[in-house]
Amino acid sequence: MFSEKFLSGQTAIITGGGTGIGLAIALKFGELGANVVIASRNQKHLDEALKELDAKKIPALAVVTDVRDPEQVEALMVKTEGKFGSIDILVNNAAGNFTCLAENLSVNGWNTVINIVLNGTFYCSRAAGQRMIKQKRGKILNIVATYAWTGGPGTIHSACAKAGVITMTQTLAVEWATHNIRVNAIAPGATETSGAGKQLWASPETRTKIEGSIPLGRFASPEEIANVAAFLVSDIADYITGETLVVDGGSWLNKGKF
Ligand code: HXC
Repeated sequence: MFSEKFLSGQTAIITGGGTGIGLAIALKFGELGANVVIASRNQKHLDEALKELDAKKIPALAVVTDVRDPEQVEALMVKTEGKFGSIDILVNNAAGNFTCLAENLSVNGWNTVINIVLNGTFYCSRAAGQRMIKQKRGKILNIVATYAWTGGPGTIHSACAKAGVITMTQTLAVEWATHNIRVNAIAPGATETSGAGKQLWASPETRTKIEGSIPLGRFASPEEIANVAAFLVSDIADYITGETLVVDGGSWLNKGKF
């Protein structure tokens, strides 16, 4: 899609970068010239992702990180600066999710998802933002979901956390515009990843129902989300900040397949 290596010389941290949409973004940014730093709680996911990045000769670093822990987040920033010198792009992609009706959701279940999605996004944005403010440039991209606006029956924790992240996107976009930092979000629809699939459409019936709700009639590929991520962190999008771009095949229009 892109012919120029327009991210050359830039370093991007991608949380949840070991699998799914996060890995697709890491590969895309790497192909476009960026140094990529992938963070995940899971060493095995990181090892496998590093092999893919190495095969494409993408300069990469993997750091085991639980975004719920501000000290681990700070260590991620320090290690990134140690290896690549600066942090130019942060993608807050790490997520946690499972379906559970609100009345059955334990306090710990609620807190777990809120801590990963809402608090983790804040810890990473704050730590990267402090550095971006000093260097007077930066781009932050948050991965959310359209149920942040419509409500997410069965996923109240994730829906509420993603709604908070949209507000965080808008707030930081204004606070940090003066520092030449753009903050945007993408709201992907159902995307072909094993992580989301296992949690949200494990049965063929659920999958078919979801497909029927998408005007374009199919799930997104992780690469399609990564292309939009590349656009939003590129210079072409230099006048876009505080925006949440919906990439869901038209699902949010709530008309289903016509
Ligand atoms: C009810 C559950 C549960 C389930 C976990 N819990 N799974 N409750 N139903 N299916 C409860 C546990 O019982 C526990 O509460 C609490 O949640 C914490 O569970 P742990 O397993 O100890 O947590 P942890 O090991 O930290 O794992 C976090 C996780 C897990 C979120 C629960 O699923 C995870 O690691 N997910 C990461 C990958 C992921 O979810 N990716 C999908 C993102 S897709 P108690 O009270 O028993 O102690 C996405 C897309 C959205 O977000 C958009 C779609 C359109």
